[in-house]
Amino acid sequence: MSITLLLIHGFPQDHRIWDLNTDALGRYAKVLAPDLRGFGRHASRDTAVTMEAFAADLHALLHREGAERVVLCGLSMGGYIAMAFIERWPGSVDGLVLCNTRSTEDTAEGKIAREATAKDALEKGMGVIARGMLPKVLGAQTRRTRPELAARVESMMAEQDPGAVAAAARGMAMRPDRTGVLRTFRKPALVITGEEDALMPLPTSKAMVDALPNGSLHVLPKVGHLGNLESPQLFNQLVAGLLQQLQPG
Ligand code: MLT
Repeated sequence: MSITLLLIHGFPQDHRIWDLNTDALGRYAKVLAPDLRGFGRHASRDTAVTMEAFAADLHALLHREGAERVVLCGLSMGGYIAMAFIERWPGSVDGLVLCNTRSTEDTAEGKIAREATAKDALEKGMGVIARGMLPKVLGAQTRRTRPELAARVESMMAEQDPGAVAAAARGMAMRPDRTGVLRTFRKPALVITGEEDALMPLPTSKAMVDALPNGSLHVLPKVGHLGNLESPQLFNQLVAGLLQQLQPG
């Protein structure tokens, strides 16, 4: 039975965030890199989309694709969704990759900031959000040495539908602490983060690895919040290693 690797993008992104991973990882698994509801080519009609709702969309997608052995790989908000998925369908996931994410809920201030982000997206537009987020999502080294990558990431964020961004921001504010869910996930798991990730400081990744019975931590040097894009070779090697472990030969 072959493995399906489901790549779940973060906020406010779309499937293009995986452009440097899909071909390389396609040698080890069938790779799905969908746009989440409202993102990419879609537009949103929701005022809030919970992580559970995104997870249910993905569960339906895996069912349509006939996926049998599944590895979830979630980046940041994608990680929140992956954790919501394993809480609801623990038996249908064979491996987990949590990238630049956290298992804890938002603080009270964080929840207020989400509503401000939602309002800004709707009232000021995505250009403002994308400009403000760029220095937070890329590491200092990447911003200094790879302006073309920075421009690509900024324009991808700016192209997202403001309604979808507002709905996802509100949905993230509603998510519970899922550290306890990780304690019950016994399959192999990787926690990958970036040395320069300002949005998800290292202790958040350490807490997830401590909770996971079969997890390992990998810190990518000189990269920020988007390790899969900033350091694709190392990232792909790590994920390929997990896929080979699950399906040797
Ligand atoms: C993401 O990259 O998906 C976001 O930074 C997650 C968040 O805002 O919590």
